[in-house]
Amino acid sequence: MKELETSIQETPISRRKSEHLRIVAEMDVEHKKSTLLECVQLMHNALPELDFDHIDLSTRFFRKEISSPVMITSMTGGAEFADKMNHGLAEVADQLNIPFSVGSQRVMLRHPEVTSHFAVRSHIPDGILLGNIGGIQLTEYSVDQIAGLMEAIDADGMCVHLNAAQEMIQHDGQVTFRGVLDGIARLLDRLEGNVLVKETGAGMSPDTLERLSSIGVPYIDVSGAGGTSWSKVETYRAEEESLAKKGKLFSDWGIPTAFSLVAARKMMSPSTGLIASGGIRNGLDVAKSIAIGADVAGFARPVLLEFLKNGVEGGVNWISQINRELKTAMLLTGSSSIAGLKSCPKVFTGELREWMQPFGWLSGE
Ligand SMILES: Cc1cc2nc3c(=O)[nH]c(=O)nc-3n(C[C@H](O)[C@H](O)[C@H](O)COP(=O)(O)O)c2cc1C
Repeated sequence: MKELETSIQETPISRRKSEHLRIVAEMDVEHKKSTLLECVQLMHNALPELDFDHIDLSTRFFRKEISSPVMITSMTGGAEFADKMNHGLAEVADQLNIPFSVGSQRVMLRHPEVTSHFAVRSHIPDGILLGNIGGIQLTEYSVDQIAGLMEAIDADGMCVHLNAAQEMIQHDGQVTFRGVLDGIARLLDRLEGNVLVKETGAGMSPDTLERLSSIGVPYIDVSGAGGTSWSKVETYRAEEESLAKKGKLFSDWGIPTAFSLVAARKMMSPSTGLIASGGIRNGLDVAKSIAIGADVAGFARPVLLEFLKNGVEGGVNWISQINRELKTAMLLTGSSSIAGLKSCPKVFTGELREWMQPFGWLSGE
């Protein structure tokens, strides 16, 4: 953790990000409520007629072939550590041939001198690299300035993050959220559709998804509740008692990842690239996410923790284990490919059914 201690630098944004990183690394910041993926049961196949070594994890995403359906999602890292983290995690992604998305590039808008912290294309020359910016910044900066962030790091696309739950608990957080959807529509136009809209651990409702679908968003990361809770992270930072009290009240706020995924598959066009994230912690979570509609599953905090402990090798080993677990789930469901896994028989149980029932989504599952 030494590196974290020495990484705090001058600008308020980078100081806040360094604090976030320290809290995420050292404190309990996981939602108490689950992703509800435990309410998805994949049907066991006692006669799989497959060889484990011939199971194919490869798939396509952002027009490129990737070796397994997983990605490392955006994480900000303060000042100097953002540099180490973005470069290191890009190497992890390159070794595994999976996508990587840098943390929020907002700091680059005011401090272009930190571009090198995000410019990791040389580490992932052929793979999928994505930039990242907050939805609110789309209402504050021109579409050319935002597109410039992507171009400056030679990324394949731009992630736009939605984080209202975090801002509401953050000291001096944003309280105006008007105009974000229009901003996304402008960016989609400017970047010819190379835009991924993501939440940050509070999930997406059918209504949110319908509005994103109405403007033609081609990639969605539901980032649901059940993993890292940003209300919790901000509660640890809160100095005023009233803010801490509010943070505790909302620490488990959000829509579980499993329901957000089911909703996304129902509300978005079938061609939408769908990412499952928020509490994806093992290969069985990945398998279940894909079986209920995701194309790719993403992780943030667990990869960071491994990277902090054991560097690039730690990250590679952690994701390799996920791939082995995913392959096991595929063998046990008789799925030789990701396309096969998408159509394997599954059962919805418990609380997830309660979320789905009002929308009439239980018939024909
Ligand atoms: C340290 C840290 C920093 C993050 N910074 C960003 C960010 O800059 N932009 C963003 O879109 N999401 C950010 N996230 C959110 C993650 O991308 C992800 O949506 C969320 O943490 C849920 O995934 P998890 O449960 O696997 O951690 C961050 C997450 C962590 C743990």
